[in-house]
Amino acid sequence: MKRKSSKKGQKVCRWQSILALLMVSVMFLGACGQKDETGAADSNILTSEAEAQTEESSDGTSETTKEVDKSIYMDPSQNVETRVKALLEQMTLEEKVAQMMLPGQAALAASDVTDYGIGAALSGGGEAPATGNGPENWQGRVNELKQAALDSRLGIPLLYGVDAVHGHNNIFGTTIFPHNIALGAAADEALVEAIGEAAAEEVRATGIQWDFAPTLGNALNERWGRTYECFSEDYDLVARMGAAYIRGYQGERGTDAYLDDSHVLATAKHFIGEGYFTDGDDQGNVDMSVEDFDALLDSGVINPYTSALDEGVRIVMTMYGSVGGLKTHENKHLVQDLLKDELGFTGFVVSDYNAVQQNSGLTYKEQVTQAVNAGIDMIMDSDSWENVYNSILAAVEEGAISEERIDDAVTCILRVKFEAGLFEEKIGGETEQALMETIGCDEHRAIARQAVRESLVLLKNDKVGDVDALTALRNATDIQMSGQKAYDLGSQCGGWTISWQGMQGNITRGTTIIQGISDATKENGTGLSHDVAGELADGKDALIAVFGEVPYAEMKGDRSVDALTVSAKDKELLDNLRTALEGKDDIPKVAIIIAGRPLDIDEYFDMFDAVIMAWLPGTEGEGIADVLFGEYDFTGVLPYTWMKDAEDIYLKKDAALAGEEVDAEKVLFPIGYGLNKAGEQIVR
Ligand code: GLC
Repeated sequence: MKRKSSKKGQKVCRWQSILALLMVSVMFLGACGQKDETGAADSNILTSEAEAQTEESSDGTSETTKEVDKSIYMDPSQNVETRVKALLEQMTLEEKVAQMMLPGQAALAASDVTDYGIGAALSGGGEAPATGNGPENWQGRVNELKQAALDSRLGIPLLYGVDAVHGHNNIFGTTIFPHNIALGAAADEALVEAIGEAAAEEVRATGIQWDFAPTLGNALNERWGRTYECFSEDYDLVARMGAAYIRGYQGERGTDAYLDDSHVLATAKHFIGEGYFTDGDDQGNVDMSVEDFDALLDSGVINPYTSALDEGVRIVMTMYGSVGGLKTHENKHLVQDLLKDELGFTGFVVSDYNAVQQNSGLTYKEQVTQAVNAGIDMIMDSDSWENVYNSILAAVEEGAISEERIDDAVTCILRVKFEAGLFEEKIGGETEQALMETIGCDEHRAIARQAVRESLVLLKNDKVGDVDALTALRNATDIQMSGQKAYDLGSQCGGWTISWQGMQGNITRGTTIIQGISDATKENGTGLSHDVAGELADGKDALIAVFGEVPYAEMKGDRSVDALTVSAKDKELLDNLRTALEGKDDIPKVAIIIAGRPLDIDEYFDMFDAVIMAWLPGTEGEGIADVLFGEYDFTGVLPYTWMKDAEDIYLKKDAALAGEEVDAEKVLFPIGYGLNKAGEQIVR
């Protein structure tokens, strides 16, 4: 099979073919005459969808211009497998391989999509189109690439994917929901499903049909920078929350809503075992033998994935990390044998971002070959899809990858595209235009605000005088808020917001914590001031300090034992506050922690009468005021065991693997811990 000529050569070839086609057409029409007076086409003119076959060009190369019969694969009344077969048998090897590409949009020309029939594209974290970061900018770029795919020889629709992991979080002005760790604390499946639905609407509004979410890891070492992307350390809670999110993103399996044009394809990620990396080292190793790891999966760690498959997830993303030293992106035992053969997964498996480059192969071609032969069907390579394309073609030519494996991979990809209705999708259609109204809308923000309320965990609420601290706070007349995070939308959103790593400051539309408290208290004339130096102004009869972590994502959030604490600026704030609060035993001192995980900060807890873990709440910071000053009670409980000292965190995995409890002496707050305003332990 001839590989595609170079792009330049191809262009010349194309014009010659068109010229040839025109000459042939003129001769053809001359022979058959024009449409007759009734206007009916002459019986000799091709009446099916088949298109005229063009001549071989003069230089002997030929474009992939086989006759195309769309009559079956473009017929939605046909069943999916029939459509897949009818399409696959018309595809050249090059067109099949082009379906296995997942390049970054920044490295992709629309003409490449048309010329090669590339089947997918992504925006990595924060990868906005060159035109700007508004919804219309995204919609324009996405639909440009989707149209280019329809203009290809076979017209196979393009899948566009993004990390909308807590709302359509790359784009300015969208609703940003609490990260998964907060949703694990709330543990409200109906709420998580509603969040998934809302996020899917905002994603589809921009033409994007695929979401690289939810993460289904159960993190056992919060030194890991992706702890907040996981719902819990408890894999059964992860399974419940993950299934609910998938149900929301995709619509419920078996209903008309399932994969309709207001929902998105979800992605179960990152397969599998990422919560067990040694010392929480992102992209690290699960230091276990194959046998022990299989036993661990059987003990329940596989549950989030079996639940996701039951919920109808059609795409799985493999993890960067390794098990027993073997990278998952070349682990056939886990991907092909377990996920596909044993669990019967019939969707497609996508690699993580440039992850195949970590495979053991000595060349890129070997690395890609290892991934494809392990069972990975689509290769996410942000900036060199040509390398992937040429590597796979070369590997097939050398027999390193069989054509059967290529057909298998493309069958899985086409199957999902047909199931998701992509061949019937109206680019920029009325549904999409209507969904534009949902971006950042009040209804979605109300759902996010509810999630903030339900995710707060009250860790301490001691007496101040003869009332509990939070009651004393509600009775206060002049409150001081301390800490830059009281007024920092970026910190309350955390990573994966506007940019990959997230950032501090006024990064999008939303409500800060202090704004929410101001709105909740101004009517009764309560004074409210803000300090970032850690001093206490005179006359204040209540203090709220907001502190924790600055935004991060993935490996940038990995922390050593000593660094698993508040940011440097907040440490300075707290040290100053400790001095300022000396002798102030008569006023309620409340701490609100903004962080993506339990921190080693119990040394500060004695400064405060009440301590609230608020996680990474997203844009609707007023959800905190709803509980502190409104009628709502605390309902959240810890989805992670909170150790007294970070140096003991490793004990959690050891205990989990041994099927034992962690030494209670070393635990600050157990998983499931949380108080209500009456001071009672919440029981789930
Ligand atoms: C990242 C993450 C993955 C994400 C992908 C695309 O490195 O590991 O969760 O979906 O790349 O941005």
